[in-house]
Amino acid sequence: MRIAMAGTGYVGLVTAVCLAHHGHEVTCVDIDENKIQTMRAGISPIYEEGLEELMAESAERLTYTTDYRSAYQNKDVIFIGVGTPEKKDGSANLDFIYAVCKQIAESVNQDTLVVVKSTVPIGTNDDVEKYLQDNVQGDYKISVASNPEFLSQGTAVRDTLHGERIVIGAETEEDKNTMLKVYENFGIPMLTMNRRSAEMVKYASNDFLALKISYINEIANLCESLHANIEDVTRGMGMDSRIGNKFLNAGIGYGGSCFPKDTKALHWLSVINDVELKTVKAAIEVNERQKIRLYEKARKMGFDFKGKKVAVLGLTFKPNTDDLRDAPSLDNIPLFLDNGANIYAYDPVGMKNFQRKYPTEINYCDTPEECLQDADICFIFTEWPQIKALPMEAFQTMKTTLVLDGRNCYCPKKMKDAGILYYSIGR
Ligand code: UGA
Repeated sequence: MRIAMAGTGYVGLVTAVCLAHHGHEVTCVDIDENKIQTMRAGISPIYEEGLEELMAESAERLTYTTDYRSAYQNKDVIFIGVGTPEKKDGSANLDFIYAVCKQIAESVNQDTLVVVKSTVPIGTNDDVEKYLQDNVQGDYKISVASNPEFLSQGTAVRDTLHGERIVIGAETEEDKNTMLKVYENFGIPMLTMNRRSAEMVKYASNDFLALKISYINEIANLCESLHANIEDVTRGMGMDSRIGNKFLNAGIGYGGSCFPKDTKALHWLSVINDVELKTVKAAIEVNERQKIRLYEKARKMGFDFKGKKVAVLGLTFKPNTDDLRDAPSLDNIPLFLDNGANIYAYDPVGMKNFQRKYPTEINYCDTPEECLQDADICFIFTEWPQIKALPMEAFQTMKTTLVLDGRNCYCPKKMKDAGILYYSIGR
């Protein structure tokens, strides 16, 4: 099939490349000329395992352009994979979606199915369809289907090619059949439903996972007070298949471009519809507090940051991504700086992005060892393999061996035996 993809972020580019991998002709559209040039040179503008290899393998079926007008012509399906960032009130900002819709309405020259892949509030697909039908130039039939994505950063290619389900929200048999054809070679179970249900599946799934994390973080905090061990507790819980053993890792809170934004957006939607989701509200509040839990712990211990060397290991919101959006490091580092700390940070991939936000305020180190040398305290915010593999000796080079680990990277007993004062989450 001839497909266009509007937007080449994590969702847009990965989906486009995977569609090309399964034999479709895909045109990727973006407004950023530099990004287009980068992709034309075979380079992925985002750090995602396996993506460049797949771009190369499917190169003959992939085109990249900023020329939306020709890109949206002669297409069977146009996917929208642009961002829906958070507005100040927590609701989703749909400006990018409508900017693309305007271009689609101006450009199409045949009947086209528009597929919204971006995460959008329930009911948006109805509005988008009305907008397109009211504004299309020419006598063409445009309809809209919802097709939420469930890919995680870092494993986006694998999640797309080997996902557990494909959710299709369509209002007509014809649209449903077109979508089934788009994905026929993927070999993944496909669920069809109406558009509003499909839109809700996305939010309800992400918010459920966020709730699961906030719940386990609260249990972990209580474990600390009651001298239970969260890892044993989750082992015991996870073997119950009704609970499942995934997303039960306690830590310093969830970040990223999805959970923080999608919990706030669904909560906002629930409030304006007068059925407030109190559980989601609680998940948001717990997470905000959890992100600065280790900072608060250090303060309670009487640690004075002024003039101290503070080692920070891990800056990204999770390993295997360079993404810093809503990362716990961004909540903590301003607090450390306000308190007069000298910060020495290490992250295997995220330092370049962090440097754009903090070009001079932080010392960036090539190795974790360099950060730790003579440090007064160490905070761990991301469980990168390079950080988890650090030997105890690396911490023994600190001036004061005080380690606050937000991702439970090391065995508390081994740390204690090595003479390191070690605090983690729920253990
Ligand atoms: C999330 C969902 O997992 C995807 O299914 C979804 O498609 C995506 O959002 C999206 O809406 O685009 P992502 O944000 O890439 O994916 O990352 P996750 O792996 O879900 O992690 C999110 C955050 O939760 C991270 O900060 C991670 O450290 C934290 N987390 C995760 C925990 O604290 N504990 C866990 O057990 C799992």
